[in-house]
Amino acid sequence: MTTNTSGSGVVINAVPDRIGTPLTPGATKVMLLGAGELGKEVVIAFQRLGVEVIAVDRYPNAPGHQVAHRSHVVDMTDPVALRAVIEAEQPDYVVPEIEAIATEVLVEIHEEGFTEVIPTARATALTMNREGIRRLADERLGLPTSPYAFADSADEIRAATARVGYPCVIKPVMSSSGKGQSVVRGPDEIDAAWDYAVAGGRVKGGRVIVEGFVDFDYEITLLTVRAMDPATGRLATYFCAPIGHRQQHGDYVESWQPQPMSEVALGGATSVAARIAAALGDGRLGGRGIFGVEMFVKDDDVYFSEVSPRPHDTGLVTLGTQRLSEFEMHARAILGLPVDVTLASPGASAVIYGGLDEPAIAFENVAAALAIPETDIRLFGKPESFVRRRMGVVIATADDVGTARQRAGDAARLVRPISTSPQADTAAVAAASREPTPQPAAAQDDLAQTRMTRRPPSPAGPPPNAGPPPNAGPPPNAGRPPQQAPRPDVRLQKPVRSGDDPR
Ligand SMILES: Nc1ncnc2c1ncn2[C@@H]1O[C@H](COP(=O)(O)OP(=O)(O)O)[C@@H](O)[C@H]1O
Ligand SMILES: [Mg+2]
Repeated sequence: MTTNTSGSGVVINAVPDRIGTPLTPGATKVMLLGAGELGKEVVIAFQRLGVEVIAVDRYPNAPGHQVAHRSHVVDMTDPVALRAVIEAEQPDYVVPEIEAIATEVLVEIHEEGFTEVIPTARATALTMNREGIRRLADERLGLPTSPYAFADSADEIRAATARVGYPCVIKPVMSSSGKGQSVVRGPDEIDAAWDYAVAGGRVKGGRVIVEGFVDFDYEITLLTVRAMDPATGRLATYFCAPIGHRQQHGDYVESWQPQPMSEVALGGATSVAARIAAALGDGRLGGRGIFGVEMFVKDDDVYFSEVSPRPHDTGLVTLGTQRLSEFEMHARAILGLPVDVTLASPGASAVIYGGLDEPAIAFENVAAALAIPETDIRLFGKPESFVRRRMGVVIATADDVGTARQRAGDAARLVRPISTSPQADTAAVAAASREPTPQPAAAQDDLAQTRMTRRPPSPAGPPPNAGPPPNAGPPPNAGRPPQQAPRPDVRLQKPVRSGDDPR
């Protein structure tokens, strides 16, 4: 499968053209590191292809554990424990689903050559740190980004703002889901932002990135797939139709596909995505899989923001919109199979939150939600609910994105998380769940509000399953109103041969 090259680790020269039988010595084995809702869909995609799947997460009965052949509960930030589980299982492919992993172990096992890390060990290490990926994007690839600087103290942030300006966004270099992020509008807010970042970062040390705030018209995820081109036997890069999304409290609340874009902006975005995805490969067949490339768009200008070398949460919409979901494409690309980025229908996804802090909740009113035309639901099966934990998602399709968003939002609001504990005042919870959730005045404020998300939620407060109230206008910062695109026109497929990689 691999060829060892002196000094530079392992370069992937061929992907086996066969899939073994699960649970036999010839099985093709995949290990998912992280088995949340995205991992669960990847596991299902592999199961359908007859692959043996091992799911690893830090807590028992994670969503992906429930559908895998075997599951392990491991602290994946512990290098010894991580290596032990990989050595015990000897998978053909290790597929990280989360960032909080002892990536030095992935680099080691990659160099030892007994398993392939997807997309590459280096990519997983680089992208878990905002500094690594920002320096690669800006200093090596020259991609357009907002102005930025790094700081290790409140004083260094003060110095950085002289270059970056106000408003700016302070983020721990190691964090995800908006944790520890805040917007700073002037010098008075720096100390609080520093303290908040130190508390919210994944690791001690407190290094932050200071990013110029981009007053974008809309933000996108451009799902980019590096997969074998059957015509050439080499890697090609494919782009899905752009996904628009709305973030609140550091998490996505709804996404839709396609996001209308000018030709110039779409051209810029695909160029950025191709370059960053190619740079995360090894120049040969390593670096296969899906990448979620996040970008901000203002007029025709595109700014690279960050990239996930794995399926992206906003891409859950592809479960309804594409012929192959992002999860199926990830599985295919890993196995060396061809992909297909055909968009089958405009669509949207809307998140269902837990609304309650307790284990083993239930969901009512699912039938009413699914009575809305062209809707589908995923309940992730997470064993414990938190008020703002993502517990499910509704996916809707329609002739146009606007209708799909309305359908997905309406259906998500109908689904009611309820307590199953005998003490709970279910009547109060049910009443609260019918109250509309207040919407922020502008999406920029969402990020400012991320500081509030650590406040313990009031149990009787309205659950966050709301999105925009019914019949509300388009959400702030969502860009132009969605185009009325007839379904036959939604195809978008732009393969770029690996020989054309722009790096
Ligand atoms: N420089 C910025 N300018 C404007 N909005 C930003 C900026 N950085 C982040 N945001 C907003 O915050 C969200 C989360 O930031 P991101 O860097 O993607 O963090 P995470 O890794 O937690 O997803 C973005 O999707 C965007 O809505
Ligand atoms: Mg992000």
